Amino acid sequence: MTYRINPNLLKVPLYIAGKSVEEVQREYGLDDVIKIASNENALGPSPMAMEAARKMLSEAHRYPGISERDLRQAIAPRIHSSLDERNVIVGNGATDVIRMISQSFIFDGGEMVTCSASFPMYHLFTTMFGGKPVLTPPTPSLGFDLKAMASAITADTRLIFLCAPNNPTGLIFSKSEVADFMKRVPENVVVVFDEAYFDFVDEGADYGAGTEYVLAGRNAIVVRSFSKSAGLANMRVGYAVSKPDIIEYVHHAQLPFNNGAVALAAARASLDDHEHLKRSKQFAREEREWLYAAFDSLDLTYVKSQANFVLLTNLPMPAATLNEKLLRRGVIIRPMAAWGMPNAVRATLGLRAENERLIEALREVLKEK
Ligand SMILES: Cc1ncc(COP(=O)(O)O)c(C=O)c1O
Repeated sequence: MTYRINPNLLKVPLYIAGKSVEEVQREYGLDDVIKIASNENALGPSPMAMEAARKMLSEAHRYPGISERDLRQAIAPRIHSSLDERNVIVGNGATDVIRMISQSFIFDGGEMVTCSASFPMYHLFTTMFGGKPVLTPPTPSLGFDLKAMASAITADTRLIFLCAPNNPTGLIFSKSEVADFMKRVPENVVVVFDEAYFDFVDEGADYGAGTEYVLAGRNAIVVRSFSKSAGLANMRVGYAVSKPDIIEYVHHAQLPFNNGAVALAAARASLDDHEHLKRSKQFAREEREWLYAAFDSLDLTYVKSQANFVLLTNLPMPAATLNEKLLRRGVIIRPMAAWGMPNAVRATLGLRAENERLIEALREVLKEK
């Protein structure tokens, strides 16, 4: 007996994760392999988060209790004093939050507008839920082309994703760029500001963040993650902040107990770990600068990043070749072909020794050319 399939689901490619350290060790017969490919925090988890998670483990036999509410109550006033738990929804990583938002607004063939050089989950979820992804190409300097995006809005547009700092470029929007764009977005369209890398933005940068539009009552949603600055990628906690009516509606797409209390407690505790956050921000600033200088010395082209990764562009050889040669030297980075950039790779900021290893490997590979 055959079964019916969902054609929208089949259009979503299976997720192919980057190679793990263990795979590369086995495939290339190497002991010493480093992975600087997934934009994790090289400094590790917040120690306060680890302690809270350990404590919560003794409750592992129970379904999560009040931890989700605790976390929402703690997040809201940190975003703005006028917000409370009704403004926040928590998901299994920002990925799950983006899934809930997509499922809530993309139905009945709705359209989603974003830039082709951005986080792929926006268009994958739109496809999964039977919508139409509208991807505008980036500007020559690899930024979101906000004018092209505004022109791509139709009567069927339901969602717009803005990602800043953008993955994979690390670029942000200025305040006036976002303001001009928002003037062109019809009030009924929901604009999602993916700010997973928010904490890494330089203090004092002209950064057009989304909170101001949530506070102004627009149909805007800010998405953030505990996977990056808080160093909790394996705990899978992210959240969205918006108007209470939007949050209440998106709750309909939330699975019961979508986060375990161990993860929720870790995320909650990390909010108070100002020391870890400060160190993570400073680390990103320092390692970015260190890498820029090293890339300059190798004559490599890169995008100046406001996140914990750097995109190398205009490579002197195909990214796939470069990637293979780096893998042979035990260095895992992320080729960007699947992101529509066949000539680019993204390197996450590693510890200094890891970054040195990347530069040494690049130096050898470029000499071989
Ligand atoms: C821009 C962006 N948004 C969201 C996410 C998802 O993060 P998570 O699901 O780990 O919270 C990522 C992960 O790399 C990302 O780069």
